[in-house]
Amino acid sequence: MSKELEFSNEMMIVSETCPKGLINYANEDFITLSEYNKEELKGQPHSILRHYDMPKAAFKDLWDTVKSGKTWNGIVKNMTKNGNYYWVNATVYKSKDNNGNERLISVRVKPTKEEVLNAQELYKKLRASER
Ligand SMILES: Cc1cc2nc3c(=O)[nH]c(=O)nc-3n(C[C@H](O)[C@H](O)[C@H](O)COP(=O)(O)O)c2cc1C
Repeated sequence: MSKELEFSNEMMIVSETCPKGLINYANEDFITLSEYNKEELKGQPHSILRHYDMPKAAFKDLWDTVKSGKTWNGIVKNMTKNGNYYWVNATVYKSKDNNGNERLISVRVKPTKEEVLNAQELYKKLRASER
């Protein structure tokens, strides 16, 4: 049975990818909620967490925004290794490391109930229009 995992107010999920979106860093909260271990995540695309309820349009918007140098903020439903799920309020942006290499960073905090309800409604409509 798929269940919603508890994302507490104290948690903050952080990950960093190369420009293609392959994970090169995931913090402890990322690991805990994803139900994968560090080794399983390294080098994987973030779509490893993709939940089938998420519309394509949300990720297109994420990538278009971040590639253009702007910061993206949105509500995302993620699926864990065991088929459970958790909602996040994600902020994604492009940055550079100390060697000048481009990297993409995402920081997620717990969304409010209202944010999740609005996203559920919007994503349902978007998914229907993508069929
Ligand atoms: C920094 C960063 C963080 C991302 N985090 C997630 C995430 O937590 N969950 C997710 O499903 N997609 C995330 N994405 C989007 C994925 O790269 C991907 O576009 C999405 O999962 C849809 O998969 P697809 O492009 O293979 O259809 C992230 C992208 C970037 C650049």
